Amino acid sequence: MSDDTTTRVPAKTDDSVVKNPYSWPANEHQPPPRTTDLSERAAKRAARQVATMFLLSGVFVALFFVAFTYMSPTDTVEIPYLGEIGGQHVALGLTFGMAVFLIGAGTVHWAKKLMSNVEVVQPRHDFKSTPEDTQGALEVFEEGVEASTWKKHPVIRRTLLFAMALVPLPFIISLRDLWLTPPGVPNPDAMLQYTIWTKGQRLVRDITGEPVRAEEIPVGGLVNCNPEDLEAVEETEGNLNARAKAAIIVIRMEPDEIQSLQIPDGAWNGIIAFSKICTHVGCPISLYQQRTHELLCPCHQSTFDLSDSANVVFGPAGRHMPQLPITVDDEGYLIAQSDFLEPVGPSFWTITGEVGP
Ligand code: FES
Repeated sequence: MSDDTTTRVPAKTDDSVVKNPYSWPANEHQPPPRTTDLSERAAKRAARQVATMFLLSGVFVALFFVAFTYMSPTDTVEIPYLGEIGGQHVALGLTFGMAVFLIGAGTVHWAKKLMSNVEVVQPRHDFKSTPEDTQGALEVFEEGVEASTWKKHPVIRRTLLFAMALVPLPFIISLRDLWLTPPGVPNPDAMLQYTIWTKGQRLVRDITGEPVRAEEIPVGGLVNCNPEDLEAVEETEGNLNARAKAAIIVIRMEPDEIQSLQIPDGAWNGIIAFSKICTHVGCPISLYQQRTHELLCPCHQSTFDLSDSANVVFGPAGRHMPQLPITVDDEGYLIAQSDFLEPVGPSFWTITGEVGP
């Protein structure tokens, strides 16, 4: 409580000006009465202002919903000093920020203009609570409710409850993303089962995007490849999710060096394609020892024998690297026969705990 009495005036003895709503005695010095203490009209105007802020909070929640539903995540806006950033994120931040801000601003305005600002003196007492104290606390609470004008201005009470009821909605609405799947994919779990590889898609080199002819891969060589559709898919989706699942390595060995294949007719003349995503925790791998035909993951040293169905020969990975069935088209370019026949990447639900196939 401030000692500065220069801005304080003695408490009015006239209860009709500033009424002490508390049971405790009023402090000797009190702040000057506010306009809203003296004029019922001013008090109603302030109440309307508070209610307007609470209502506007609800409007911004509705705008949040509109931005979340109708704006594209790939839209961008130019913000001075920040550069180009995602337009939807700006809209979501602004609308939700304004919704919360208006509740706060309305509450502060309510407290400053309408709640009682009478300063009271509470005598010190024992810390032990007696039944009387408990009862007294309840009475003080009731008095606080009275002094806050919670009962007197039902419009504030209702609009605040309205605003508070709407504010959690952005969190709930955001959960929609858990159920978002591309067209034709029934549920998020199914998304983990497929990549964008389809029958007939050419294998194209990573970075350059050039299709790969079978004769371009020498025995012992390794090429990093993607599906030819990848660029278009990334442009449509605006993210790298498809790349993270579809990336492959293509290696070539002498056909008689191949001990076993996951898909026996899925290789072409010693050329085999495997997922590039480690089945341990998903690091991309292309460290290949051509003499031993082993693929080594640099993250935790899982090692896969590509000549023997890419089985795990060392390290923490729980299963082989999935094979992509390939062949060549009429022009001699490598193409996929289909998508992978099993999920790629760290598929924990298939880990058996045993090293090997
Ligand atoms: S991510 Fe490859 S071994 Fe851990």
